[in-house]
Amino acid sequence: MIFYFSGTGNSRWAARQLAARTGDKACDIAALRQPPDLRGESRVGLVFPVYAWGPPQVVAAFAGKLARTGAFTFGVGTCGAEAGLALKNLSRVYPLDSCYSLVMPSNYIVAEDLESDDVICQKLAAAAREIEQMAGEILARRKVYRVKEGPMARFKSGMVNAGFNRFARSTKPFHADDRCTGCGQCARDCPAGTITLTDGRPVWGKTCYQCLRCLHECPQQAIQYGKGTQHRGRYTIQNYLDKL
Ligand SMILES: Cc1cc2nc3c(=O)[nH]c(=O)nc-3n(C[C@H](O)[C@H](O)[C@H](O)COP(=O)(O)O)c2cc1C
Ligand code: SF4
Ligand code: SF4
Repeated sequence: MIFYFSGTGNSRWAARQLAARTGDKACDIAALRQPPDLRGESRVGLVFPVYAWGPPQVVAAFAGKLARTGAFTFGVGTCGAEAGLALKNLSRVYPLDSCYSLVMPSNYIVAEDLESDDVICQKLAAAAREIEQMAGEILARRKVYRVKEGPMARFKSGMVNAGFNRFARSTKPFHADDRCTGCGQCARDCPAGTITLTDGRPVWGKTCYQCLRCLHECPQQAIQYGKGTQHRGRYTIQNYLDKL
């Protein structure tokens, strides 16, 4: 069984690609209504986006409750560039036999604009090749630690990650501009169930994973996070898969 969490599709795609090669089922953590039954599973995988050099808290909380069954366990952190100690830190709540980072297009447009289409396509093609190798290693139950940690990993995955979870996940900067048509897609798709529609406009509650799905997938590109996102691009993997 391969569990995944995904904001803009990278980790969902990676989980499904892996599952297709290992013969496992890919299962969306945000859609699970009850704890999974892992009896009879020979592999348990966790695929997720790296947030501020750590695993998303929602993934760590889910992993911490998983039964430890003796199955071969692995984690894959998809990231724009580097994962720091995200996999090691996740391994503390749920021991992982193998750990991988998988470099994919960055969706963090709160900090910087999207990469060029060329770079995005190159990253996706390289990720597809990396998944082939991973799948072989996972099927062979080989213990692997292949993670791009990057410099100052301990500091980034420690203090900076704690600061991100404490201060940078606020929903206050979210707003919809005049392009919003009130279609409700953002409210339907938010994995935290935090968006409601009031008088035809989205209103954000408190709980937010900062997955940025609402921002990237609004069909009108009407959602902004503060002032920085207005002139930046929007990303979902779906827009690129047929260009590969
Ligand atoms: C809140 C947030 C924090 C991020 N932090 C990192 C990071 O620390 N290192 C990195 O390389 N990429 C970072 N990224 C980029 C994502 O990890 C990357 O684009 C990931 O593949 C997105 O996966 P998804 O499409 O499944 O949501 C961050 C993205 C977001 C939204
Ligand atoms: S998805 Fe976009 S257009 Fe639709 S309700 Fe949300 S903000 Fe408005
Ligand atoms: S409000 Fe937006 S960023 Fe926050 S969890 Fe929902 S979809 Fe993700």
